[in-house]
Amino acid sequence: MNRDSRIYVAGHRGLVGSAIVRMLQSKGYTNIITRTSRELDLRRQADVEAFFGKERPEYIFLAAAKVGGIVANSTYTAEFIYDNIMIAANIIHSAYKTGVKKLLNLGSSCIYPRSAPQPMKEEHLLTGPLEPTNEPYAIAKISAIKLCRYYNEQYGTNFISVMPTNLYGPNDNFDFETSHVLPALIRKFHLAKLLREKKYDDIKEDIIRFSPDFKSASDINLYLSKFGITAEYLQLWGSGEPYREFLYVDDLADTCVFLMENYDYKDIGEFVNIGTEEEIRIKDLAALIKEIVGFEGKIVHDLSKPDGMQRKLSDISKIKALGWQPKKTLKEGIKKSYEWYLTSRKDIRS
Ligand SMILES: NC(=O)c1ccc[n+]([C@@H]2O[C@H](COP(=O)([O-])OP(=O)(O)OC[C@H]3O[C@@H](n4cnc5c(N)ncnc54)[C@H](OP(=O)(O)O)[C@@H]3O)[C@@H](O)[C@H]2O)c1
Repeated sequence: MNRDSRIYVAGHRGLVGSAIVRMLQSKGYTNIITRTSRELDLRRQADVEAFFGKERPEYIFLAAAKVGGIVANSTYTAEFIYDNIMIAANIIHSAYKTGVKKLLNLGSSCIYPRSAPQPMKEEHLLTGPLEPTNEPYAIAKISAIKLCRYYNEQYGTNFISVMPTNLYGPNDNFDFETSHVLPALIRKFHLAKLLREKKYDDIKEDIIRFSPDFKSASDINLYLSKFGITAEYLQLWGSGEPYREFLYVDDLADTCVFLMENYDYKDIGEFVNIGTEEEIRIKDLAALIKEIVGFEGKIVHDLSKPDGMQRKLSDISKIKALGWQPKKTLKEGIKKSYEWYLTSRKDIRS
């Protein structure tokens, strides 16, 4: 990739896409092409083809997707499979048709089988049934990886995929209806702290940002109790026993650009895991975030809520053998994320 190559970052306002843009800019890449979903709905094949015909990107980071936590995944099942299949198929096919030099597709470690051996190696994909709560999403993401592979095999393209673990960082999604566990916990502990300190105006301001339906001050307690937030305690979903692995998103962006600059399909094969190889119980993660945010109440468990997979840890030997390893510790990363949430948590996606 040259500094003036035409690089399209699909999904540039999202958690991953924005980190890739930051990384490319910090390395001096000057010709970055972006479109919001309003400007270009990637589910629409004709629009995607017209865009590729006009912009002729040379390199693509495919970080646009419909993404969410357990609730969103099990509620919007049709949207999760349709949107993600359409986005991937349209971009990958147009990339092939217009002779894109290289494409990097974002997979996700949550698409490994529910009972995959731990830590999960690349060869464990498609070796058993998927986690039912995100099967539609997983099927679409697996299709994207296979599209890349089979376009490479039939057409000689150079499309690679990465399989990151759970991510967090600047531009994360803090909307409780759709967010992942780590950003949700940061915001929940922050709101519980504000409630304990009786800072009702700050709470209202925060809720209005994320909930356009929020109408009056009398709704505050209703809203907070819906998400298990009180001044005395915070309700944690599930038992808190499952283990999870978390990667700071700038570390992922660093790897994506590193792979785009240095490695081809022939070097890495179908895809490569990206993670930290460090796991933490959800209840210990909650305790760590509670400490960083400074909430002095208790943590209680809502056992009516699902736990998801018991353990999900990536084997990252393959990416380490290529000369990469994560830089930020979990504590440093959460502090950075909380700082970002406090200073920049305006709804940048509106
Ligand atoms: N978040 C994680 O923990 C995680 C972990 C592993 C892998 N990943 C993978 O990383 C990729 C990006 O995830 P993310 O967390 O960055 O998601 P995100 O923050 O929700 O961002 C997704 C982006 O996709 C764009 N998008 C969605 N639907 C679109 C459409 N129909 N047309 C055009 N653009 C559309 C959105 O654009 P607008 O903002 O313009 O609407 C949004 O900025 C996904 O493939 C995901 O599977 C994420």
